[in-house]
Amino acid sequence: MSLFLFLLLLLLFIPISLSQAPPRGLLINCGAQSEAQFDDRTWLPDWSFVSSGSPKTLTSPVRVPTLQTLRSFPRQVKKHCYNVPTYRGAKYLVRTTYFYGGVNGVDHPSPPVFDQILDGTLWSVVNTTGDYANGNSTFYEGVFMAQGKIMNLCIGSNTYTDSDPFISSLEFLILEDSLYNTTDFNSFGLALFARHSFGNSGSPIRYPDDQFDRIWVPFEQSSSAIASTDNVSVYGFWNLPPAKIFETHVGSEQLESLELRWPTALLPSSKYYIALYFADNTVGSRVFNISVNGITYYHNLIVIPSGSVVFASQWPLSGPTTITLTPDASSTRGPLINAGEVFYLLPLKGRTSTRDVIALEKVKQSLRNPPPDWNGDPCMPQQYSWIGITCSEGPRIRVVTLNLTGMDLSGSLSPSVANMTALTNIWLGNNSLTGQIPDLSSLKMLETLHLEDNQFSGEIPSSLGNISSLQEVFLQNNNLTGPIPANLIRKPGLDVRTSGNNFLSPPAS
Ligand SMILES: *[C@@H]1O[C@H](CO)[C@@H](O)[C@H](O)[C@H]1NC(C)=O
Ligand SMILES: *[C@@H]1O[C@H](CO)[C@@H](O)[C@H](O)[C@H]1NC(C)=O
Ligand SMILES: *[C@@H]1O[C@H](CO)[C@@H](O)[C@H](O)[C@H]1NC(C)=O
Ligand SMILES: *[C@@H]1O[C@H](CO)[C@@H](O)[C@H](O)[C@H]1NC(C)=O
Ligand SMILES: *[C@@H]1O[C@H](CO)[C@@H](O)[C@H](O)[C@H]1NC(C)=O
Ligand SMILES: *[C@@H]1O[C@H](CO)[C@@H](O)[C@H](O)[C@H]1NC(C)=O
Ligand SMILES: *[C@@H]1O[C@H](CO)[C@@H](O)[C@H](O)[C@H]1NC(C)=O
Ligand SMILES: *[C@@H]1O[C@H](CO)[C@@H](O)[C@H](O)[C@H]1NC(C)=O
Ligand SMILES: *[C@@H]1O[C@H](CO)[C@@H](O)[C@H](O)[C@H]1NC(C)=O
Ligand SMILES: *[C@@H]1O[C@H](CO)[C@@H](O)[C@H](O)[C@H]1NC(C)=O
Repeated sequence: MSLFLFLLLLLLFIPISLSQAPPRGLLINCGAQSEAQFDDRTWLPDWSFVSSGSPKTLTSPVRVPTLQTLRSFPRQVKKHCYNVPTYRGAKYLVRTTYFYGGVNGVDHPSPPVFDQILDGTLWSVVNTTGDYANGNSTFYEGVFMAQGKIMNLCIGSNTYTDSDPFISSLEFLILEDSLYNTTDFNSFGLALFARHSFGNSGSPIRYPDDQFDRIWVPFEQSSSAIASTDNVSVYGFWNLPPAKIFETHVGSEQLESLELRWPTALLPSSKYYIALYFADNTVGSRVFNISVNGITYYHNLIVIPSGSVVFASQWPLSGPTTITLTPDASSTRGPLINAGEVFYLLPLKGRTSTRDVIALEKVKQSLRNPPPDWNGDPCMPQQYSWIGITCSEGPRIRVVTLNLTGMDLSGSLSPSVANMTALTNIWLGNNSLTGQIPDLSSLKMLETLHLEDNQFSGEIPSSLGNISSLQEVFLQNNNLTGPIPANLIRKPGLDVRTSGNNFLSPPAS
């Protein structure tokens, strides 16, 4: 059966000493005015990571201090982004937390629904409606590798967004290399679906018990299961789970199958990373088979005091999920399980070529009033590409059209536009752009250049005549001077329009 092709491993462990240092990374308290310490950890205000939106403070007090403020974004603008400095190649746990608090006024008692985007990939829809109705905040957690020195976390308005989207806090925590390392983080992110500590009726387990501040939510046991406190020592898992999750379990005292309806929510059809954690030091042996929705997941797991994790890197799931632990004939005790994690494998959609991103950032800087949605990745996700930008598809995502016709822009055109070597069309007509026309001779694919109805000054660069693909050069109604380069006038098949300028010599017919 093809399922057996998926990686399935039982790991036994080498001791590794656990550090008590707080997780490395950045904690960002959105909408806060200044740095603050909560539970001995430093939370930074968000204004240096984001250039749009406005900070808001909730009117009623909240228990979790980082939820007291948030940043609210005008919904008319497609996307708003945080730019967070990262170490290229490092693996990050990214957690976004949302608590609406009614900031959009009495006309909007319910929180808006919107999208969250990481780099070029639509991470998920943010729907906090259910949690907010219960007075709860909502968090999303994912594991992503930094592809560059900056990661973007963007908030995007979608068709359901009926009032201004917002975010309460943002965490970027560095994970050790071994965590979840059977995942190819160049191609996938992991989006957390569920992480539970079974048989636990206390509060969620997180930092300092979990050195990476992952949140292990207590899982209500079903009636057939019992919880007990174990005394086991666990170390050396690649995923470095906190020892505390092994203090409780859901298990059966009888030699009978244990069925766990977990995760409780229905799963969208996809491939998942699943890790199940087991440890026990009671007398006797616990040996059992594990199956997921009736399909064997692992045979004859022997639960030992030092613990084991059984994981699958790409396991297909859809709808309700049942985990069944069936004791083997050789087992003297019933099965048990301490904890589990399920992540959705999120295929990464790629990012715009760095060369174009750098050039576009410079183009943005040279415009006095760049379009407000020019944040985050220029091309990706496709439905969130920057206004005026059209891109190529495929493994190398390049910008092919820059079209900001009639957008009331002022400022100048950065010479860096010449680094966007896949451009075929530049249309900037009917704006108030000033300054010189940069040397564009490196744009070997350029077919149309429309700069009409602006205030460009200086001479027309003669290098334009060297672009063999050029078909249209529209420069009318500017403030250009000097001679019109002869190679432009003489170029066969080229439509050059230059009326309404201050040329020394009139264009040859
Ligand atoms: C958001 O969640 C609520 C409750 O969970 C649900 O009723 C609603 O349909 C969801 N909205 C969208 C746009 O998905
Ligand atoms: C959410 O709210 C409900 C009702 O107030 C509460 O029982 C539940 O424990 C809360 N859930 C979380 C995760 O805080
Ligand atoms: C994952 O990390 C462990 C522990 O460092 C290492 O032994 C193992 O080879 C790694 N696996 C992969 C696929 O990188
Ligand atoms: C737990 O184990 C430690 C060391 O093995 C032992 O000293 C201690 O008494 C045990 N506690 C319980 C409650 O069994
Ligand atoms: C456990 O799985 C093995 C292999 O599929 C099977 O032979 C065995 O009968 C199973 N044991 C139980 C108790 O289901
Ligand atoms: C540029 O945008 C204008 C106005 O939106 C449109 O008429 C024109 O066709 C576009 N040009 C290209 C090359 O996409
Ligand atoms: C030029 O752009 C303005 C908006 O900036 C628009 O109102 C006007 O119709 C445009 N003119 C032409 C000729 O396209
Ligand atoms: C074009 O990119 C190169 C690096 O790829 C850089 O050195 C150069 O300064 C850029 N040119 C402009 C005009 O920005
Ligand atoms: C245009 O191309 C010609 C021949 O390749 C070269 O001699 C000339 O310097 C180029 N002109 C400019 C302005 O780049
Ligand atoms: C147009 O060019 C002339 C001469 O170069 C200059 O004096 C004038 O300020 C320019 N006007 C604009 C709007 O750039």
